[in-house]
Amino acid sequence: MPKSGHKRLRSGADVWAIGATHVDRAMSNLPKNHPLHTIVLPVDAMHPEPATIAQAAAALRRGELVAFPTETVYGLGANALDATAVARIFAAKQRPAADPLIVHLSTPAQLAQVAAEIPPLAHTLAAAFWPGPLTLVLRRQAIIPANVSAGRDTVAVRLPAHPVALALCAAAGVPIAAPSANMFTRPSPTQAAHVFEDLNGRIDMLLDGGPTPIGVESTVLDLTRDPPELLRPGGVPIEELRRFLPALTFTPRYIDTEAPEAQAAPGMLLKHYSPRAELRLFVGTPERALARLRAEALAALAAGQRVGVLAPDEDAAALEDIAAHIVPLGPESNLEQIAQHIFAGMRALDAQGVDLILARGVSAAGLGLAIGDRLVRAAEGAIIDAGE
Ligand code: TXA
Ligand code: MG
Repeated sequence: MPKSGHKRLRSGADVWAIGATHVDRAMSNLPKNHPLHTIVLPVDAMHPEPATIAQAAAALRRGELVAFPTETVYGLGANALDATAVARIFAAKQRPAADPLIVHLSTPAQLAQVAAEIPPLAHTLAAAFWPGPLTLVLRRQAIIPANVSAGRDTVAVRLPAHPVALALCAAAGVPIAAPSANMFTRPSPTQAAHVFEDLNGRIDMLLDGGPTPIGVESTVLDLTRDPPELLRPGGVPIEELRRFLPALTFTPRYIDTEAPEAQAAPGMLLKHYSPRAELRLFVGTPERALARLRAEALAALAAGQRVGVLAPDEDAAALEDIAAHIVPLGPESNLEQIAQHIFAGMRALDAQGVDLILARGVSAAGLGLAIGDRLVRAAEGAIIDAGE
């Protein structure tokens, strides 16, 4: 069962993949609302097995839900041209119908099928960044059902770089709508085991291609605005987009999940990527932020709380003497590595049953902008500025 060719982080996927058998729901006499049986198939990340891809593509064409690795995070795919299949994505994730989905393509030529009034800049950016973690918001073609876009006249599109995602989209022969394959509000899944934890029994199939290489979601750029607006920092750093859009900035407009305007601003919700435990984010110079974090950890421990820490390797070493669960994310200078581990770290601390997670912010350069954005949302505004 285990495939050579790529390494898996201890996902446990091989163990449960062995036990997977296919229960055909049409043939079984299970009650209608009985949970689905999720088939887990291992797939080689670099050289996906054609038979596995064909099986998953056939499931998508039948209107089923298939989770698969992309270069950013795992996605939960459905045929983007099939409104019924798309509705099942929202049900499986318990995602609010007001939050639109990203449509995944297998060739740039498909763009004209799903989007209208495509500006020259879209072609320029597609040529520069596709396949890759850049999502463009454009005018929606009528062939894309309204529920994909939560009733908007726009559609978010990207062409993924992961060999499994690309092969699957190509074999399916249709554009694939896919949000991150987590339950709504849980951290995005960067390993098949995370998808299994949230969605086993709620989706039809899961392709286990090992850990996802980038670890944070795609950058979302709205090209229907003038000037274009960066809606979500992600895998393509803002500095790279500024080669084409020199004045581009990121102005976060986070809003409370409970606020009345929550419906109007998809993807802007605080508590969007949250561990179960309360998270507090410490910002400021590394030394000051670490000192505040340490004091807060000691106070919480003294009060009998179970404390988790999410921090660069340097901090993890400096906190070794305290009785907190510490998840080292990677060296402070290696933001690629920190991005890869940020969501898995939140899940690992939840699994430890901590009451409180203390996290230290990182530089906003490169992938740091996306890392900081995910931490701010997870902290739901609980940000402690230790000063410069
Ligand atoms: O890296 C990614 O983008 C992953 C992989 C699976 O491709 N997908 C992902 O999807 O993160 P999701 O649904 O978790 O996030 C999609 C984001 C949300 O913030 C959503 O509000 C925004 O894209 N979005 C989608 N369609 C939009 C639209 N028409 N207008 C504005 N924002 C849109
Ligand atoms: Mg998501």
